Amino acid sequence: MLDFSLKYLNILKTQLAGLNLTTILDPDEFYQKQILDSILPYQESDLFQKSVQKTGIVVDVGFGGGFPILPLAKLLPQVKFVGVESRRKKAEAVTLIAKELGLQNVKLVHSRLEDFSFDRPSTITFKAVGTVGDYLPLIQHKHPTQVFFYKGPSFMQLEGEQIKNIEKNWKLLENQEIKVPGTQQRFLVSFESVNVPRGTAKTLVKLSDFL
Ligand SMILES: C[S@@+](CC[C@H](N)C(=O)[O-])C[C@H]1O[C@@H](n2cnc3c(N)ncnc32)[C@H](O)[C@@H]1O
Repeated sequence: MLDFSLKYLNILKTQLAGLNLTTILDPDEFYQKQILDSILPYQESDLFQKSVQKTGIVVDVGFGGGFPILPLAKLLPQVKFVGVESRRKKAEAVTLIAKELGLQNVKLVHSRLEDFSFDRPSTITFKAVGTVGDYLPLIQHKHPTQVFFYKGPSFMQLEGEQIKNIEKNWKLLENQEIKVPGTQQRFLVSFESVNVPRGTAKTLVKLSDFL
C-alpha cells in the first residue's frame, strides 16, 4: 500500500497538478489521511467485510479525488468497484489515475446518485458526501442493500437527531469508531434497507451497465 500511495500522490502532483484533487501533499500525511482512512474502516468492520463478501460489488458515491474507491480497489482485487461522481472533471481524472495505477476492477461513472439505479445487489459507500438524511432517501435500489457512511468526529452532534428519525425504509445497524493514526476521529455508520421500493418511471443510469 505504501508504494501505491507514493504513486498515487505523484500522479496528483504531476499529471493532475492543476486540478487540486487533494490539499495533502506530504507523503506520510497522504498515506495516513487518504489511503489508511479509506481502507481501515473496511479492515476494522466485520459488517462491512461481510457485506462486500456477499455482494462482490462496491458502489462508491461522490468519490471526488478517488477516495475511498481506489485504495479499496487496490486492497480487494477480486471485488468489482463502480464509482458515481457528479463532477465530470473528477470522474475523468480518477479514471486516468486508476489506469496509471493498473487497477482493473474499477469503473468510474460521471452521474448523480439521483439518476443511478442500483439494479444489482451491491454494497454502497459514501465518504464526506452530505448528510445521511439527505442521501439515503435518494438511493434507488432493487435488492436489499447495506450502506456505509464514512463520517467525522462531529457526526453525532450534527446528525444524531436526524438519524433517529431516518425514514422508515432504512434501519441503523452500527455506528463504529475507527482509529486512523494521524487523523481525527472517524466513524463508520451503517444502514440496511428494510424494504425494496417499487420501480421508478425515470430513465436511469444502471449499475448493471458497468459490471
Ligand atoms: C467532499 S467531496 C468527498 C470526496 C471523497 N469521497 C473524499 O472523501 O475525499 C464530495 C463529492 O461528492 C460529489 N457529490 C455530491 N453530491 C453528489 C451526488 N448527488 N451524486 C454524485 N456525486 C455527488 C461531489 O461532486 C464531490 O466530489
